[in-house]
Amino acid sequence: MDLYFGEGMLSGMNNLDMSVNIAGVKWKNPITTASGTFSVRESGAFYDLSELGALTTKGVSYEEWEGTATPRIAETYGGMLNSIGLQNKGVGPFIEEELPLLKKYDTPIIVNVVGKTIEEYCRVVERLSETDIDMLELNISCPNIKEGGISFGTEPKMAFSLVEKVRKITKKALIVKLSPNVTDITEIARSVEAAGADCLSLINTLLGMRIDVAKRKAVLANRVGGLSGPAIKPVALRMVYEVRRAVNLPIIGMGGIMTGEDAVEFLMAGADAISVGTASLIDPTAPLRIKNELREFMLEYNYKSIKEIELLEE
Ligand SMILES: Cc1cc2nc3c(=O)[nH]c(=O)nc-3n(C[C@H](O)[C@H](O)[C@H](O)COP(=O)(O)O)c2cc1C
Repeated sequence: MDLYFGEGMLSGMNNLDMSVNIAGVKWKNPITTASGTFSVRESGAFYDLSELGALTTKGVSYEEWEGTATPRIAETYGGMLNSIGLQNKGVGPFIEEELPLLKKYDTPIIVNVVGKTIEEYCRVVERLSETDIDMLELNISCPNIKEGGISFGTEPKMAFSLVEKVRKITKKALIVKLSPNVTDITEIARSVEAAGADCLSLINTLLGMRIDVAKRKAVLANRVGGLSGPAIKPVALRMVYEVRRAVNLPIIGMGGIMTGEDAVEFLMAGADAISVGTASLIDPTAPLRIKNELREFMLEYNYKSIKEIELLEE
């Protein structure tokens, strides 16, 4: 007789429960994809996406956004810079072409929403609220063109107005994704909690730059871009830790997660779930590997549930 200890049996034997409840939505494990670093067609060719806790799409705007000029990617020590400019086809083509592919998988779908004005965010949210997606993630790092291009996510009052308006037009679970390019991230976190957010995700990329010294020019056509990858992990962890102490909302942590141990650090800092971003650009199966490494960690240290993974009280 063959003895088979598949994932289910092994989990059962150890009473291991990796599931989490994020703003009323049940995820089978705490791992999702970070917006913009995953595509259902490409990643879906490498592994069964139903293995993940949730799938997060790239930013969706109301109409098509063309994105910025190239070069728009540059490598850096321990990370990368990007200035893709949230290129996407708009909410109509997203609902017709992408959503049916995502719905084939047995896991919640989170749609990341972008806009240049509050009205644009609201139009996208209205359209998506008529579909059977599970959660919305507002990327509030976009510049507000009606306010001189200041990012919604760097000004507490502007962030409040945006979230308050969106909250009124949707019953979907509402995640607000915070920008790290601020002096005090807890101020923005408190403000979007007061405006009715159900969950926070953090961090988005940190503004950065590289220079080609031979050409005496910035490497990116846009000159500056968003820094992601392991280089930002300590900053991201510190921000999750601070925000955990400032609000009562569930937190999806991200920023440079490359291994199961990195994921554990975020859970201990106070995250309820985590997203894998830049790691997927190196290895498309990274989210699945990180999930498996997290399970191995739980077995090794005898954790029975994700909630038990926390810092010791000082
Ligand atoms: C190429 C690229 C595209 C991204 N696109 C989006 C996006 O559309 N919306 C968004 O909220 N964040 C976007 N991000 C930010 C990531 O979702 C994530 O917050 C950030 O990269 C930090 O995580 P990481 O270090 O694991 O990549 C993008 C990041 C990268 C590298």
